[in-house]
Amino acid sequence: MQLTDQERAWLAGEAGPATKRAMEIVVALGQIYHAERLIPVASVQISGVSYRNIGAAGLDFLANWAAEGARVRVPTTLNPTANDLQIWSEQGFDAGFAAKQQAVVDVFVQMGVGDGHPVPTCAPYLVGNAPGLGEHVAWAESSAVSYANSVLGARTNREGGPGAVAAALVGRTGAYGMHLNANRQATVRVEVRAQLQTLSDYSALGAIVGQRVRKQVPYFAGLPLERDAPLWQEKLKALGAAMAAAGAVALYHVEDVTPEARAAPVLADGAGTLVIDHLMPGYAMLNDPVEHIDLVWVGCPHASLAEIARVAEALRGKQLRVPLWITCARPIKEAAIAQGVAADIEAAGGRLIADACMAIAPVRDLGFTSVAAVSAKGAFYLRNLAGVKTRFATLDDCLALALQET
Ligand code: F3S
Repeated sequence: MQLTDQERAWLAGEAGPATKRAMEIVVALGQIYHAERLIPVASVQISGVSYRNIGAAGLDFLANWAAEGARVRVPTTLNPTANDLQIWSEQGFDAGFAAKQQAVVDVFVQMGVGDGHPVPTCAPYLVGNAPGLGEHVAWAESSAVSYANSVLGARTNREGGPGAVAAALVGRTGAYGMHLNANRQATVRVEVRAQLQTLSDYSALGAIVGQRVRKQVPYFAGLPLERDAPLWQEKLKALGAAMAAAGAVALYHVEDVTPEARAAPVLADGAGTLVIDHLMPGYAMLNDPVEHIDLVWVGCPHASLAEIARVAEALRGKQLRVPLWITCARPIKEAAIAQGVAADIEAAGGRLIADACMAIAPVRDLGFTSVAAVSAKGAFYLRNLAGVKTRFATLDDCLALALQET
């Protein structure tokens, strides 16, 4: 691998042990994937932030790195935590767990993440970190990677936990995979004949396509979607998240909508075709036989203000009989409070949960064993990571389950 003089000096330890260790990781990853060089990245998004996932060993690993002098060299954001960093007791977390989760965030603060005020979220592009067309970044959360590559036209592989931290410390990643033009051509044309209306329909479509195409790059034709129509970005957010969860899709194109598909032909010669006639298999694959639900979860990936406003509208004057949690970034929650939509949700018995993600929380320990989700990705991980039974349905259907009309 070709390295610049500065990269060689960092690798030799001239900028201290923390940078040396980061360079060793970045170079080793680059070599595994046959990168010829490293490339500078404009931003990094770090995963492995939930204390439930990384545990004491992960916290120690990060704390030792920080103590060695690890400091980020580019703007860096964090993936969600397990609990809301402020109202964790309302969620049912105990003080010991919340303290350890806060300790993880504090280590990242020590490293300079978020200029000392990190905003844990899987949708950093909703809160001011939206890379531009062709910009190289190193992001870790699969749904954010999909959004950055596809909807924004930026370039990122899905970085692993330590790999993303290392990339943040040196501001570089290996030039391979999604960073190279050759790998950004679509390899399968997806012809959508099914009717799509709701955000969950896009999520169901993503679950079906992700399971079928695995790691390929799909090109969607026939989606009833126009740029700048209401919720167009949220629909793509839902589609990409589900494909990344059910398969490992890091990039997709949508005819006339996504930036690379608008700029030039992106369908590779010899690409296969996949026809989608029905969405029901996407819903069915994530519906367990449950007699009741004890939580409704909205906000996977983290909800936008528009999504929260839709829930508020649906709940106005009604009362929930089971808890509703809407996960989002803290600035989005603050905006929802400022605009009054949070009050409608809270009056109905729902909660806006900032910072956190239910799929990486100890959901069963909190007393939830069957959860309704409007997101295929959310249901997929709740079932596989949190071990709960799931109902995957539209927002209206989820709310109908949870509502007791007053
Ligand atoms: Fe985000 Fe958690 Fe869903 S990280 S994409 S809310 S599974």
